[in-house]
Amino acid sequence: WAHSSLSVVVLGASGDLAKKKIFPALFALYYEGLLPPNVQFFGYARTKMTDVAFREMIAGTLTCRVNSRERCLEAQETFLQRCFYQAGSYDQQQGFISLNTRMSGQEASMPRANRIFFLSIPPNVFLDATGNAADCASSRTGWTRVIVEKPFGRDSDSSKELAEGLGRHLSEEQIYRIDHYLGKELIENLTVLRFSNSVFEPLWSRQHIRNVQVIFSENFGTEGRGGYFDRYGIIRDVIQNHLLQILALFAMEQPVSLDAEDIRSEKVKVLRSMKVVSAEDVVVGQYRAKGNLPAYLDDSTVPVGSLTETFAAVAMFIDNARWDGVPFLLKAGKALHKRYAEIRVQFRHVPGNLYRSKQGSNLDAHTNELVIRIQPKEAIYLKINNKVPGLGLRLDTSRLDLQYQSAFASNDLPDAYERLLLDVVNGDKRLFIRADELEAAWNLYTPLLHALEKNKVAPELYPYGSRGPVGAHYLAAKYGVRWGDLNEDDDE
Ligand code: BG6
Repeated sequence: WAHSSLSVVVLGASGDLAKKKIFPALFALYYEGLLPPNVQFFGYARTKMTDVAFREMIAGTLTCRVNSRERCLEAQETFLQRCFYQAGSYDQQQGFISLNTRMSGQEASMPRANRIFFLSIPPNVFLDATGNAADCASSRTGWTRVIVEKPFGRDSDSSKELAEGLGRHLSEEQIYRIDHYLGKELIENLTVLRFSNSVFEPLWSRQHIRNVQVIFSENFGTEGRGGYFDRYGIIRDVIQNHLLQILALFAMEQPVSLDAEDIRSEKVKVLRSMKVVSAEDVVVGQYRAKGNLPAYLDDSTVPVGSLTETFAAVAMFIDNARWDGVPFLLKAGKALHKRYAEIRVQFRHVPGNLYRSKQGSNLDAHTNELVIRIQPKEAIYLKINNKVPGLGLRLDTSRLDLQYQSAFASNDLPDAYERLLLDVVNGDKRLFIRADELEAAWNLYTPLLHALEKNKVAPELYPYGSRGPVGAHYLAAKYGVRWGDLNEDDDE
């Protein structure tokens, strides 16, 4: 770092993501001393604002995760002094030329100036902004990297178009496609769990695993984000990216090394082995009002009579020797009863179980289950059958339990954006989506998405705050599965 500076530019600096995630993450990295000493941050957006007003806006978003509050507040001051703002439009060069001049001014004394652009902007200005940033504000002396967030198109064709558009201005090496779920602690740990413990990997196949469930649940609706959401729906917003990425990491073969290209090649391989999702294997839902809680259609930013799904459950299958016939059930919904995300692995029943008569008749309740709770209250636990202590012989389910909060000193895990931004600074692409992965992911979902639109499939309504539509249970039952998150004892 001794001879280089770093400028981080956030396009869409007054937006929600920038305020809630990007600037707080940049500050956390700055505070931890993980950024080069010569670093500055630029906000760019259409709204006119002075540097001072911009700093005030960001100041309200920074938090101190650390013990020493005083030191943290001091660091906030110096961080804010390094923040600058440039107003400009996305589809004209002028703003980007001014931005470039201001960046160069700050970088002047360094022989090498590296630049990161974070595109936190709506899809309709994506290509213009990339083109203008690349043409007018790329670094002439160091590297330029560009972080892009979904939506990466709406289907295979539009995604391809977007990829070609980006490719006109940037090389693949410069593009960092973010899927922030890959930056979550428990997701990064997934491969560690699998490949560094000899007790799990031998069980990781159709021989021992009956089904796998990846579940995402939010206890709030679209609340003002309906304009964006309605064009996409939960399948594009969460399932085709976050949950499918988790599935790929879960099911892939062991990579040759931890190198980004080796890991991503394994993910592509398993994605390409998956069956294209069939319309019979999907249930879509939409939340309706319950008491004071509004329906999706009550959101003023949602078009009247919209059929967009706010809930979906999908059954997927992988056509390879390891996973043939194992159902992978993915479920995601908004305005449900609780906020959580988890992976549930249900193992096969014990053949010729000696203790069957001691366990009661509900075999499902006694199935071994490995639960990886991604959030909140991160945890990994394995449900096993155990003798109830005391005289007599009665069996019940107990947990081998790793709760992050009590097991590890740190209460606050780094936010996904911190990890991912640091990786961009270090040029580490392990946790970013490669172009061929994205293409494979779209190929799995595009026919279904087109069929839902073409046939105007009406979503099954479910009350705000409930556990989602009943259809999800029928879908699971079709494959002999019961959703694991329905067990009351698993609520904590
Ligand atoms: C985003 C989706 O990618 O992920 C949102 O667009 C969703 O709809 C969010 O709310 C969930 O992220 P997290 O990290 O809060 O679980």
